[in-house]
Amino acid sequence: MQQWRVATRAEEETRLLGRSLGKAAPAGMVVLLNGPLGAGKTCFAQGVAYGLGVAEQTPVTSPTYALMNIHQGRVPLYHFDLYRLSRVDDLEDLGYDEYAEGQGLTLVEWADRMGEPLGSSLVVTISSSGENDRQIEFTAVDPAGRQLLSEVKSTWEAARSAENL
Ligand SMILES: Nc1ncnc2c1ncn2[C@@H]1O[C@H](COP(=O)(O)OP(=O)(O)O)[C@@H](O)[C@H]1O
Ligand SMILES: [Mg+2]
Repeated sequence: MQQWRVATRAEEETRLLGRSLGKAAPAGMVVLLNGPLGAGKTCFAQGVAYGLGVAEQTPVTSPTYALMNIHQGRVPLYHFDLYRLSRVDDLEDLGYDEYAEGQGLTLVEWADRMGEPLGSSLVVTISSSGENDRQIEFTAVDPAGRQLLSEVKSTWEAARSAENL
């Protein structure tokens, strides 16, 4: 699967969608999260973390100032937020390449602020179409991303019908 668009109507739904990705994601993958401030990137990232097995009470917030947070799940989650960065050089100073090439799941908010595109398997773009309405578009970049995307879709569909959404 190459592309998939889904609508959510509450932050819990976006979190559930992220959870589907966290459950399905294999080790060593890079997923980019784009969309304006308040779109729901962090909300999605919370779901990813819990789906990966990060303890549910763990606060998962935008690492806007820290630039990166690590959470321990079934594999580590490397959660980046590039809002305050604009150059790939700054990203390299953070040791980004080693994380991205490592065995964790690398999740990058504001990936599109970099001058050049970051290598990834899946790009998630969130846009707002009303106070609580969001459009979430997934684009698979490589075969691993396509595989993950079909699993996210089926996990989400099962979760959604279980929750009567
Ligand atoms: N369907 C939805 N999905 C995600 N967030 C939503 C939704 N509807 C409303 N919101 C609100 O939008 C905001 C999203 O914030 P956040 O996830 O921090 O955004 P970002 O990280 O993209 O800046 C939260 O205040 C959340 O309650
Ligand atoms: Mg955020």
